[in-house]
Amino acid sequence: MRIVVLVSGTGSNLQAVIDAVADGSLPLEIAAVGADRPDTFGVERSAAAGLETFVVNFKDYAARADWDAALLEAVAAYKPDYVVSSGFMRIVAPSFINAFEGRYVNTHPALLPSFPGAHGVRDAIAYGVKVTGCTVHFADAGVDTGPIIAQTPVTVLPEDTEETLHERIKVAERELLIQVLGDLARA
Ligand code: GAR
Repeated sequence: MRIVVLVSGTGSNLQAVIDAVADGSLPLEIAAVGADRPDTFGVERSAAAGLETFVVNFKDYAARADWDAALLEAVAAYKPDYVVSSGFMRIVAPSFINAFEGRYVNTHPALLPSFPGAHGVRDAIAYGVKVTGCTVHFADAGVDTGPIIAQTPVTVLPEDTEETLHERIKVAERELLIQVLGDLARA
């Protein structure tokens, strides 16, 4: 199984995937790692791990449709079985979803359908929920919508900040993402 991973930032979940592939516990090939902006640590750490990387910089495209087409072309060139959005903070076009129908996997730091969007952890704290968590799902053209594959609950502690809670969620998220990718790879 070949995957392309898309990131917008740190890529700590991606690092867990890289490590699991390297130690032989995750039977897949990371064909490439792509980002929507330059200078992400996600791309930097991927290059350091010897992976192919690419950037389709959103800001380089005057028209949204042109960026959509460029992203699709860049990802499709690697002929991935699955595309993984791991902290990729852009909604992709319907053309992208169609091209990778049922093969575009997203991870989100909340128990969807609660708290979709860019601030899932902050929004959960603001609402006052006592349990949140993470979700791995097949993404459709909406914001963190599409069929749920797996979820892990994480308890919100009274003293939690967005940062402390997100760090605990990410621990669960890494494990869940590796488990889901492993299940897909072995299917
Ligand atoms: C992860 O928690 C991921 O679920 C979240 O961004 C973080 C990326 O962390 N994605 C979203 O909020 C998407 N709506 P990382 O770059 O350290 O892996």
